[in-house]
Amino acid sequence: MAKGKLRAVRWSKGTVHLLEQRVLPFREKWLKCDTVEKVAKGIEDMSVRGAPAIGITAAYGVAVAAVRSKAKTTAQFDKEISGAIARLRKTRPTAVNLFWALDRMDECLKAVAVLPVSDQKRALEKEAFDIHAEDEALCERLGQHGSKLLAKAKNVLTHCNTGALATGGDGTALAAITQAAKKNKKLHVWVDETRPYLQGARLTAYEVAHAGIDFHLITDNMAAFLMKQKKVDAIIVGADRIVANGDTANKIGTYALAIMAKAHGIPFYVSAPTTTLDLTKKTGDEIEIEQRNPREVTHPQGVPIAKEDYPVYNPAFDVTPGHLITAIVLETGICRAPYQKSLRVALNKEQKGRA
Ligand code: MRU
Repeated sequence: MAKGKLRAVRWSKGTVHLLEQRVLPFREKWLKCDTVEKVAKGIEDMSVRGAPAIGITAAYGVAVAAVRSKAKTTAQFDKEISGAIARLRKTRPTAVNLFWALDRMDECLKAVAVLPVSDQKRALEKEAFDIHAEDEALCERLGQHGSKLLAKAKNVLTHCNTGALATGGDGTALAAITQAAKKNKKLHVWVDETRPYLQGARLTAYEVAHAGIDFHLITDNMAAFLMKQKKVDAIIVGADRIVANGDTANKIGTYALAIMAKAHGIPFYVSAPTTTLDLTKKTGDEIEIEQRNPREVTHPQGVPIAKEDYPVYNPAFDVTPGHLITAIVLETGICRAPYQKSLRVALNKEQKGRA
């Protein structure tokens, strides 16, 4: 992995190290996860979050189980690793990258089952490391493609967090912004605070400031007012799951932004690696939306703003219909409607390149 850069996940000697995102931007603290349970909790409790980062962490979780296993036989080893994969699958339901990474670890386990246990351990550790390294390279390509779409924009709005903290590299949507900002020093970013978990205020603002890009933090309900004043030229967000017709699950509030963008004639872009595609699902109605703890709404960052016994509805994601998305940026290039066709072509291209 690239040294000296902002990174969310590191692997060292059988331990996953997570940059504890719950205390950012005020403190930089690393969480050591040396058991599968600690890794699973790290994902569930959002010490690490963001679709690609969750997938990478889960893959390392399997590697933790493998490297630290005391199993003497392949049957014992297989049982332990399959158990670890099953536990990690239950952490968060919406981002498909988690399941993609765990499927890949499971395929690796099956492919090396004929080898001695010591070799199987090494193979699983390498597979997790490869998943991480590949994501880092994907981010670079996403940034290159996405920045072309932002070439003429002066003011770009983004939602949630899609940078280094959410991925294995420099990000998805945020990589497009940072690469565009290298060419256009006047680029300015509107950072949505992203209620209720405040990924924008706590994490994206931190990353954009770290990159030295001009920005303003806004609350989510200010976006339409800015658009009306022609102060937003483009919107770019990440994704947690993109299905066959282009419907895209992303952080709650994304759908509202896409509707506002349509109403104001502003392009609305989604940027994600092909590991975020789930073409087994036809429409967004099939995506499971995670419901989170009511306290995230009544006690943001632990601060009470409403009575804790109030009934609360707290879906973590919404689904933006494909027809509201101007383009989807993948590492293979830029896809436009009809997404049924363009996403399939992109995925085939990616799979051919891998074969
Ligand atoms: O609940 P989170 O913080 O894991 O949600 C993250 C998002 O919705 C991101 O926008 C998405 O994962 C894209 S990450 C590059």
